[in-house]
Amino acid sequence: MAQYQIGLIVGSLRRDSFNRQLANGLIMLAPPELVIAEIRIGDLPLYNQDEDANQADTVKRLKREIGASQGLLFVSPEYNRSIPGVLKNAIDHASRPYGESAWAGKPAGVLGVSVGAIGTALAQQHLRNVLAYLDVPVLGQPEAFIQAKDGLFDDADNFGAGSRKFLQTWMEHYVGWVKRHTA
Ligand SMILES: Cc1cc2nc3c(=O)[nH]c(=O)nc-3n(C[C@H](O)[C@H](O)[C@H](O)COP(=O)(O)O)c2cc1C
Repeated sequence: MAQYQIGLIVGSLRRDSFNRQLANGLIMLAPPELVIAEIRIGDLPLYNQDEDANQADTVKRLKREIGASQGLLFVSPEYNRSIPGVLKNAIDHASRPYGESAWAGKPAGVLGVSVGAIGTALAQQHLRNVLAYLDVPVLGQPEAFIQAKDGLFDDADNFGAGSRKFLQTWMEHYVGWVKRHTA
């Protein structure tokens, strides 16, 4: 069985983050052919173009881990109708120096959960815009706009009955997307 290395990027640093729970749930739901490992972004410096020729070790690690991934999973909250700064910071870091972006061509999936009724829809749309520029092909359908509600997860971050089937279907489409772009 072929295996695919998937880099997971979580856009929240909050200890009890719903998006981390969503990411944990996705890891448990994923088939054995996906090897999902988190790419940490919380320890990166603020991006400064002056440092392009002298990137921090954490930035080099970020780029190395993206480079070793055959697919990417972005699981992020929405902050003020866009993506959190911490996520944009990581995206900017790995896109530089000019001509040495780590992102290009990596098939990606985008999901998010928020307390708001539109479930990170606008943040995801902004993220898709950025990723399009970086030449990252993002799974179009199904979209996953998830609202945090009681019963979404159990105590071990497994998905509750109401969302499990939908997220299973999402995962099947994502696996197909990764395969299509790595064949
Ligand atoms: C700075 C900030 C801005 C936020 N803006 C939005 C927003 O635009 N839309 C939304 O649905 N929720 C918004 N929220 C609420 C988040 O959905 C909520 O805090 C959520 O728990 C964040 O995800 P996390 O649990 O993974 O940290 C915002 C929260 C913060 C802290």
